Amino acid sequence: MKSWTATARGPPTPQSLTLAASLPLPTLPPNSTALLLKITHVALNPADLVLLRALPPWLPFRRAPPVPGMDFAGVVVAVGDGAGLSSSFAVGDRVCGALGLAAVLRGEGTLAEYVLVESASVAKMPLREGWGLREAVIDYRIHDPLEEHLAQKFGEQQFDAILDCAGSQALFSHSPRYLKPEGKFVSIVGGWSQGVVPFVRNKLRPRFLGGTPRRYDLFLLSSSGSIAKEVAGWVEQGVIKQAVIDSEYPMEQAVEAFQKLATGRARGKIVIKVASTE
Ligand SMILES: NC(=O)c1ccc[n+]([C@@H]2O[C@H](COP(=O)([O-])OP(=O)(O)OC[C@H]3O[C@@H](n4cnc5c(N)ncnc54)[C@H](OP(=O)(O)O)[C@@H]3O)[C@@H](O)[C@H]2O)c1
Repeated sequence: MKSWTATARGPPTPQSLTLAASLPLPTLPPNSTALLLKITHVALNPADLVLLRALPPWLPFRRAPPVPGMDFAGVVVAVGDGAGLSSSFAVGDRVCGALGLAAVLRGEGTLAEYVLVESASVAKMPLREGWGLREAVIDYRIHDPLEEHLAQKFGEQQFDAILDCAGSQALFSHSPRYLKPEGKFVSIVGGWSQGVVPFVRNKLRPRFLGGTPRRYDLFLLSSSGSIAKEVAGWVEQGVIKQAVIDSEYPMEQAVEAFQKLATGRARGKIVIKVASTE
């Protein structure tokens, strides 16, 4: 099967990423609770870039060369025979989810034609037609500094919650000016310097030592499948009205897709189409 492999550590280039034409097809072991998926789409995630840059491809505990990619959509082509799995999944089901870090560290990522995925990490694809339109946005480049603009515009009518997808310390430090006292600030930006250090500082520093008097949380994706199932439900119920796609690349152009991701300027998800959904 075709599969992208990380052949050198570093930024995404034709040297660090190679399209292997004939890697062996993964097979389900006996009593497995996994599914064999034909991958149709992979959505790139900045965490993929961190792993490409940080992890050497020769780690001894994983197969060589490692396959990158975490987030996936695909079709079930074989169901493991363990734990009554066949009552929950059938060949032909369209599914989606995200692999856990452990699978990616083992080099068993999703940027391949076929992947074995633990059934617990998988949600059935939501069925919904007719996406709606987005709400209005505040452009942070026009209103710079953003926190001053928010304080002026939302000082009276404060927010109930803020979800920070950029990892902005200033946005949290100034939040008492525009976030309700009982409001919650949630950052999704992980990583040692952006995620862990701010988390410790913002979560644990008491107010009398200068801590910001608002609740701070760090949300990190888990591969349990519960998040994928919840999000699939939101799509079906119409809570999520639009999937924002920046661009779609064919399987052969994954390097270009990663390079677009590395600009930090994507407007929505960058998707690699691995195969047709037919
Ligand atoms: N917690 C989790 O489970 C989880 C899951 C997925 C992603 N993440 C993390 O979430 C972050 C965002 O992910 P992503 O996929 O959206 O990354 P991305 O594709 O790199 O985000 C690019 C977008 O961010 C905007 N942007 C850049 N700097 C900004 C700033 N200072 N303020 C507001 N917007 C800014 C850009 O807008 P302009 O081009 O207009 O500047 C662009 O639209 C990353 O750090 C990623 O690692 C966490």
